Amino acid sequence: MRSRQTSVIILTFLAGLILWRVLDFSDAIDGGMTSTSATTIADDESEWEIEKSLGEISNATLGFERVFAIGFEDRMDKRDAMTIGASLSGMKLEWIEGVRWKDINEKAYPAGWDKRRNNPAELGAWRAHLNVLQKIVADGISTALIFEDDIDWDVTIRAQLIEFSRGARALQNTNSSSPHSPYGDDWEVLWLGACAMRTRDASYVYQIPDDPTVPPFKHRGEMIYPPFVKPSEMHKTRFVLERVEALCTLAYAVTYESARSILASLSLQPTNMAFDVSMNHLCMNKDLRCLGSYPVLFNTWRKEGTNAHDSDIHDDWEDVWHEKWSKGITYSTMLNVWNLIGGGKTVQAQYPEVSPQWIEFEKLEIPRGKLETYELTLGELTA
Ligand SMILES: *[C@@H]1O[C@H](CO)[C@@H](O)[C@H](O)[C@H]1NC(C)=O
Ligand SMILES: *[C@@H]1O[C@H](CO)[C@@H](O)[C@H](O)[C@H]1NC(C)=O
Repeated sequence: MRSRQTSVIILTFLAGLILWRVLDFSDAIDGGMTSTSATTIADDESEWEIEKSLGEISNATLGFERVFAIGFEDRMDKRDAMTIGASLSGMKLEWIEGVRWKDINEKAYPAGWDKRRNNPAELGAWRAHLNVLQKIVADGISTALIFEDDIDWDVTIRAQLIEFSRGARALQNTNSSSPHSPYGDDWEVLWLGACAMRTRDASYVYQIPDDPTVPPFKHRGEMIYPPFVKPSEMHKTRFVLERVEALCTLAYAVTYESARSILASLSLQPTNMAFDVSMNHLCMNKDLRCLGSYPVLFNTWRKEGTNAHDSDIHDDWEDVWHEKWSKGITYSTMLNVWNLIGGGKTVQAQYPEVSPQWIEFEKLEIPRGKLETYELTLGELTA
């Protein structure tokens, strides 16, 4: 009888001790929110794993194995700009030489290429993108982010990508708290920079409300808003979308396997389409699982000068002087070069209606988003 009482007392004491440890532990982890269930510890541990894996997005290659930028060696001016932008963002880029269509052996053209119908420069762009994909496959690179050479991004790109990744993981139903890629293990293309984007027949959308880096609606150019949301509801909301269809491959990420399948589709089979249009078809036909951010995270940038200097695809433009501009990037890296270049941390939004107008970019927080269900209807996709 005595020993039974003693065991009860000891057990009660132990249970109290465990309860106290649990409370203490969860207090330490989620800053005051207490819970007594034993699963809290498991949840907190996987939460910690998730945060650790998301933390990889802060590295010099934004959580991808490599970052490539495609550009012509003789467009040293564009390389200057991208090198400055990458350096201000602590990003490590590797250049891949652009291709001029005149340098492509006609025998290496895609089967079915219609020389009369297509702009010849598109052939060069097609080949340059294929060359990057070929390198990814040949070198066994697990994931890579690919840039064209005239883009801009928000100074808060890492915070944006971390929240994007939470959304991407939620859409992929990534169960593992430590996936191979911090963006999850069930994606094939992350279309992060485009000039038009929509989604259809996706039932889940990750919605990030009150994202201060979302550009005001009227500054989104020809982007097509997801047809399930009214423009009035889009203010300050970012969407992580699946089954995206998009145009312009300003910035996109691939995996080793998807690089191989894009290379196979666009090289072994006849094609008569520009690279971005082909990619759009692969996404649209669900050959590839393509996720994207709307509004996009990477967009076109132009330095001050004449438009004849701007594009390597169009050579026929008149010399018209323009100011420097960045399309749809709120706290633009390139427009803030002079605020950042001496080590400054305070940057200005390019749109006067945005608040806060000035931010200390390392302190800006992007709110947490969540999965929403929508009935999607077909929207127009135009460039
Ligand atoms: C950044 O993180 C990714 C994913 O873990 C990794 O593959 C890559 O090597 C890292 N990059 C650098 C520069 O450490
Ligand atoms: C994650 O778990 C859910 C429910 O257990 C399952 O249906 C789904 O297939 C899993 N996803 C992956 C990528 O393993």
